Amino acid sequence: MTSLNVNDTLYEVDIETDTPLLWVLRDIIGLTGTKYGCGVALCGACTVHINGKPARSCVTPLAEVIGKQVTTIEGLSKNTLHPVQQAWIDEQVPQCGFCQSGQIMSAVALLRKKPHPTDMDIDQAMKGNICRCGTYQRIRAAIKKASTTSPGKS
Ligand code: FES
Ligand code: FES
Repeated sequence: MTSLNVNDTLYEVDIETDTPLLWVLRDIIGLTGTKYGCGVALCGACTVHINGKPARSCVTPLAEVIGKQVTTIEGLSKNTLHPVQQAWIDEQVPQCGFCQSGQIMSAVALLRKKPHPTDMDIDQAMKGNICRCGTYQRIRAAIKKASTTSPGKS
């Protein structure tokens, strides 16, 4: 059995420790907000936070998160109204929605590090998160909007 802490809850899982964290989150724990896109760290759909830093859960083995704090989109806020989620709603960012939990997790991490990011900061921080629907302009607008509230909170 391996213990892992996800969204401030301790889980005991009976699975090999080289299993990707994304599989554990979705198939074992049942947290399906984190998405599977490419499986090889190229799209950002599977982004979660590990000890507050963004990470691609599709290429992160379970062994790497033992003793660490994992946060998924479900853990950002109790009412789904984290300031970044609210900005996403206000700017009507999602189209199909598939990439958006990863986008939001990357945006929250950016705003924690840089509460008032420039366009260049946003482009740099978000470049690994691909959106096939092309919502990039709205993502940028939502990050700017969130930067006027208190986006670092989770
Ligand atoms: S599914 Fe992990 S980066 Fe694409
Ligand atoms: S909203 Fe469809 S892939 Fe981003």
